[in-house]
Amino acid sequence: MAERIAIDSYGEIIRYLADKDPTTRRVMEEILAREEEHADDLAKLLTSFDTSSKDATKEGAKSNDNSPKPEGNGSKSKSASH
Ligand SMILES: [Fe+2]
Repeated sequence: MAERIAIDSYGEIIRYLADKDPTTRRVMEEILAREEEHADDLAKLLTSFDTSSKDATKEGAKSNDNSPKPEGNGSKSKSASH
């Protein structure tokens, strides 16, 4: 997954910077931490999809309620109340 490539790349940059540029290194470490969160989120999402598809198979796919719901973006009323 792309997040893993990003994690490897930021890790490489951090190792390269070492003590040469501690400020840039800290920024890279913060970005790396976020990428690790993204990778964890995606891994959990993939696991939940896998579990859902197994459940659907078990139940004969009687309910297909796993589809993403619209977030309601872009449908705001133009008449603001203030
Ligand atoms: Fe990311």
